[in-house]
Amino acid sequence: MAESMKGLKRTCRCAELSVENVGQTVTVMGWVQKQRNKGGLIFVDLRDRSGILQVLFEEEICGSEAFEKAAKLRSEFVIAVVGEVVHRNADVNEKMATGAIEVRAKEVRILSEAQTPPFPVEADSKTKEELRLKYRYLDLRRPDIQKNLILRSKIATTIRAFLAEEGFLEIETPILNKSTPEGARDYLVPSRIHPGTFYALPQSPQIFKQLLMCSGYDRYCQIAKCFRDEDLRADRQPEFTQVDLEMSFVTQEDVMDVTERMVARVCKEAIGLEVQLPLKRMTWHEAMNRFGSDKPDTRFGMELTDVSEVVKNCGFSVFSGAVAAGGSVRGINVKGQAEMPRKKIDALVEFAKGYGVKGLAYLGVLPDGTYKSSFAKFMTEEELKALVEAMQGQPGDLLLFAADRLKIVWNVLGALRCELAKQLGLVDENKFNFLWVTEFPQFEWSDEEERFVAMHHPFTMPMEEDLPMLEEKPGEVRAKAYDIVLNGVELGGGSERIYQDDVQERMFRALGFTDEKAHQQFGFLLDAFKYGVPPHAGLAIGLDRFVMLLVKAESIREVIAFPKVKDASCLMSECPNVVDPAQLKELCLAITDQESGESD
Ligand code: AMO
Ligand code: AMP
Repeated sequence: MAESMKGLKRTCRCAELSVENVGQTVTVMGWVQKQRNKGGLIFVDLRDRSGILQVLFEEEICGSEAFEKAAKLRSEFVIAVVGEVVHRNADVNEKMATGAIEVRAKEVRILSEAQTPPFPVEADSKTKEELRLKYRYLDLRRPDIQKNLILRSKIATTIRAFLAEEGFLEIETPILNKSTPEGARDYLVPSRIHPGTFYALPQSPQIFKQLLMCSGYDRYCQIAKCFRDEDLRADRQPEFTQVDLEMSFVTQEDVMDVTERMVARVCKEAIGLEVQLPLKRMTWHEAMNRFGSDKPDTRFGMELTDVSEVVKNCGFSVFSGAVAAGGSVRGINVKGQAEMPRKKIDALVEFAKGYGVKGLAYLGVLPDGTYKSSFAKFMTEEELKALVEAMQGQPGDLLLFAADRLKIVWNVLGALRCELAKQLGLVDENKFNFLWVTEFPQFEWSDEEERFVAMHHPFTMPMEEDLPMLEEKPGEVRAKAYDIVLNGVELGGGSERIYQDDVQERMFRALGFTDEKAHQQFGFLLDAFKYGVPPHAGLAIGLDRFVMLLVKAESIREVIAFPKVKDASCLMSECPNVVDPAQLKELCLAITDQESGESD
């Protein structure tokens, strides 16, 4: 039976008490972590979001009624305790923040009873994630998740304060929008009032923030919810949060400057980390060539080496053929792993194939000067020597090579490098390596659509010196776009925007947009630009990812209160779900594919 709080008022949180409060009478409320009945004494660990406090029940002090109640307490009961803060006589617990004190109960009320939870509410849970997510409201009681969400809140507060100091205005932009299909897939919301039409949820506030610049707001920011219907991974959710900003009368340098100072402030206030400014920078080209990735993890080496020149005429046709076909042969040197067991190498080959290459060639340089290799037999001694030398191979090293189109080679070796670093424990988990990647290509070729698509978005400003190539060699045009990378994760990205009519028109043409299509999709932005548009630039940081990296979580689900799983469903609420036929009717919708929906 639930008792009332009547007459009681919580005086503090559990772990806010310390030896300084000894002698005071306090009222604490929270969840029972554990109850231990030692005959004449009952110990209760009481938990709230601040931590755990030991409460002691002694019949002579609290009376028999309270003592009987204490005897009934079980895990997760919600109780209120009035008592005196005292020094612990024995077993001072160094591990607990409140380990030197306890509260000697005078009164207890059971505010709510609890069923036995499906898993223990404790830190470092071994419980399977599916079960945790099904009962997320219990999982959220666990101290490690609470720590993450408390830090997330603090980070958001720091960001808001910083941006306000810098003159940014926080302005909300709409959630119900017009669909603009450039980018990821949209989440659609049917309109009841206009049957047959749909709103789209925003993939980002991009167009609106640019409109706000046209309207003179000058410096905009928002901690904005964004929605993207894309395949999920450990660092991707269908709905996520961006720290979004846009500035007028600036160049990319100004955006990068504000961003890195914001990031440094957050690191300092959230985890006490001093970040050296300015952050390191690397062009996209250098990042791809050295690390095979546009978001390089620079906490370890194992950089890529281009050996195309060395092997272009060699006897191994996989290599020479790839170069002849306009491709590339590149390798990584896995130090000291020449004798990696065949099974492990085979697993790496399979891993590489997952990134689109047909195979992975390996060469172990054995200590006795011989080779263990999948292709040495096709090459002369000189050719092998030249190859090993180009790779700076030493006895004991394992050299891995991919031969294919350059884009695939980069991808494969970039991924392999990270996988090997993980397997071999080469990553220093205490490092926070920030990096700006700049000079991104303006376009990337889409095999699917057989046209160039914008790598960032169609409003990204090309670099001035590359503008003349926009028509003839679009593949070589670099953009004034920049990503901020932390430990191999893309933390955020942005660009300087096009604000000149003629450049925007050329851009749309390069993207294969007719005037009509451009107008249909972005008409109101293009119209707005006709009425006076300031030069502007901006960026968005993925807040979930930032918090995930700062708390060293394995996945962004650990820093989101109610996340979705891989198939974009919520295990707790069981959304998405079928809806009442009446709702569909009202929206003039019918489910035609009975296999994917159960509604009739
Ligand atoms: P972009 O698409 O690069 O840029 O997104 C910015 C940042 O948002 C985060 N992010 C995600 N986080 C979790 N789950 C996802 N599915 C997800 N998708 C993106 C990433 C990413 O770096 N409007 C532009 C920014 C600009 O140009 O100003 C934009 O949205 O951390
Ligand atoms: P094969 O002649 O196809 O048996 O390949 C010989 C060796 O080259 C095997 O170790 C393959 O894994 C490897 N190999 C095949 N294709 C490639 C490629 N595109 N890049 C690198 N190595 C490859």
